Amino acid sequence: MVPLPLFTRRGFVIATIRDVAKLAGISVSTVSRYLNKSGYVNAETEQSIKNAIEKLNYAPNQVARGLAGKKTNTIALILPDISNLFFSDLARAVEDVAATYGYTVIFGNSDDQGVKEKRYIETLKQKYIDGIIFASNTFGHDDAEMLTKLGIPFVCLDRGPDEQNFSVVRSKNREGAVMAVQHLLDVGCRKIAHIYGPQHLITGKERLIGFERSVQGFDWYTPTLLEPADFRIAGGMKATERLLERHPDIDGIFAGNDLMAVGALKALNRMGIRVGEQVAVCGFDGIQTTEITAPELTTIAQPIYDMGALISRLLIKKIEGTLEEDKLYELDVKLIARESTLRRKNI
Ligand code: RIB
Repeated sequence: MVPLPLFTRRGFVIATIRDVAKLAGISVSTVSRYLNKSGYVNAETEQSIKNAIEKLNYAPNQVARGLAGKKTNTIALILPDISNLFFSDLARAVEDVAATYGYTVIFGNSDDQGVKEKRYIETLKQKYIDGIIFASNTFGHDDAEMLTKLGIPFVCLDRGPDEQNFSVVRSKNREGAVMAVQHLLDVGCRKIAHIYGPQHLITGKERLIGFERSVQGFDWYTPTLLEPADFRIAGGMKATERLLERHPDIDGIFAGNDLMAVGALKALNRMGIRVGEQVAVCGFDGIQTTEITAPELTTIAQPIYDMGALISRLLIKKIEGTLEEDKLYELDVKLIARESTLRRKNI
């Protein structure tokens, strides 16, 4: 019988293990047991599963890999914004470490779009990938549940969801924000604003919490010193213009990432405000761009290479069955003080 492909407006629908179970009238776990040959399935049920797999044209990864009798030694890294050096630096580390273990890395750029992320997951399910690293925005519980059911190892980098039944590597975002505020206070700032990143991302959220907890005791603090942006340069520029319009007497800005801090530098320069001397600016990430701005940018540097190297090792251990436990790893950040927070001599 010729397998019947399932069509939608956009073309083939890739059947999942859940579709097979539903058509065969049995549970997902029974189908999984049959596919992985990890337990007894009676003849009648086996035939129902075979009929459903054929009818749905289902191509389960583990059967293909099982038939091939080997792994593909290929992992995937899904990034939200490959144009941001933070992510390309992460990718560099992931690839370096994966190569030492004999693995090839496939990169996917989701452009911060959930629909692109979902499309990558669907495609990767059929590409015999040994495991996936998500450094993306919208990876959530359903994706984790689906990948677990399919038996595809995965880990999360930088922006992983809060729940911890899989390994997550990120930096100490909240502590880093506290460090930024302390540095701005130390160099004499007495009215500090925060340009914060997207709050659906744990990195944006944690840095805002760290900032608010550090400043809420000061009499100069008001929530109007907070301005949202999108982790990009243009967003940082617009946020700075709005902040200076509301509070012309701001003398310090903590931006939730380096690109928004670069935007702040640009906006302040356009307004004829001397960065450092009049308004000190601190970013977050530690990307190379901070070394070539004028003035050079003070930042809270994430251990980007170490984060990428660790997540790569964790995924490969998970693939090879040697990972003892899944857990959250939060790595230390460090202040790199440069000219953008160098204040007036008489401070
Ligand atoms: O610059 C991009 C930001 O998004 C970084 O701070 C990183 O932590 C990610 O969440």
